[in-house]
This record gives sequence, C-alpha cells and structure tokens, in this order.
Amino acid sequence: MGFTISPFTIDRYEDDIPLWKETEGIGLSDADSKDSIRFYLERNPNMSFVVKDKEDTILGAVLCGHDGRRGYIHHLAVRQGFRRQGMGRKLVQECLSQLQAAGIQKCHIFIFHNNLNGINFWKSIGWTYREDLQIISRTL
Ligand SMILES: CC(C)(COP(=O)(O)OP(=O)(O)OC[C@H]1O[C@@H](n2cnc3c(N)ncnc32)[C@H](O)[C@@H]1OP(=O)(O)O)[C@@H](O)C(=O)NCCC(=O)NCCS
Repeated sequence: MGFTISPFTIDRYEDDIPLWKETEGIGLSDADSKDSIRFYLERNPNMSFVVKDKEDTILGAVLCGHDGRRGYIHHLAVRQGFRRQGMGRKLVQECLSQLQAAGIQKCHIFIFHNNLNGINFWKSIGWTYREDLQIISRTL
C-alpha cells in the first residue's frame, strides 16, 4: 500500500496517542503527556516521524532524539494489520538519517525483555542485541 513518512508534530499528538495505547510492547508514562512530548519534540526537532496513509490516518510513529553523544529511539509502533510492509524499517531509517546528519554515531533503544517480536524486528534490520547491558533508573 502507499504510505508517506512525515515529521511528528505536536498537532498530531491526539491522533497518535491511541496508537501507542493500543500497541503491545509500548510502555507509556508521565513522560508521554502532551506537554512532555512537546518538550521532547522541541528539544529534538525533525527527528521523530509518523507514517500516514492517503487519508492522512496515522499508521505508525516513532520518537527519536539525542543527548549530544548517543541517539535514542522510543515508542516505535506500526498499527496491527499494516505490519510487515516496511513501515517500521522506514521510520527507523528516517530517524537514523537525522541522527547521522547531526553527527551522532550510535543509537540505542530500550525494549522489554519479553518483547520477542520487537527484538526479532530490530535484529532483522541489523541492530545488535546487547547481552552486556542492563538499565538502572531513578525517579527525580
Ligand atoms: C516492531 C514493529 C514496529 C515492526 O514494524 P513493521 O512495519 O511490521 O516492520 P517492517 O515491515 O519494516 O519489517 C522490517 C523487517 O523486520 C522483519 N520483521 C518485522 N517484524 C518481525 C517479527 N515480529 N519477527 C521477525 N522479523 C520481523 C520483517 O521481516 C522485515 O524484514 P524484511 O524486509 O527482510 O522482510 C511492529 O511489529 C510493532 O509495532 N510492534 C509492536 C511495538 C513494538 O514492539 N515496538 C518495538 C519496541 S521499541
């Protein structure tokens, strides 16, 4: 099917949030409120994307940014029924192009241990599963 990729803008937040809510493997938190996502997009301009059909319906989305050192991709999701058509791969490619243009040389993602489909997707598009790392977090 035909689809287009375009920048994730805050005016599409209300269209996008239901997709994330209904997608398995996506963990939402306070950091995903509209104000928080606006802050994220302003801090990382033109790095996050949506994929839309001809009717302008959002079929997929991804957040991407960097801290000046490494890139990070969050909340990659493609709507059920539209998967395995290359949209996930294309969203990731767009993010990596923008990171590369900003001089960033490596990108990481966070993924739940039990998200085997997600892990297989990342491996299938050439990413390396890191057995040597864990995440340690603290709420401020
Ligand atoms: C992961 C996800 C975004 C993939 O989106 P998609 O549009 O179906 O992926 P693509 O069609 O671009 O697939 C790209 C490649 O990955 C492979 N792939 C996709 N899903 C896969 C799976 N579940 N298992 C193994 N390989 C998979 C495809 O075969 C394809 O390879 P190919 O082009 O050589 O055939 C989608 O399945 C999804 O939204 N999952 C739920 C949310 C999630 O887990 N997100 C990732 C966590 S951060």
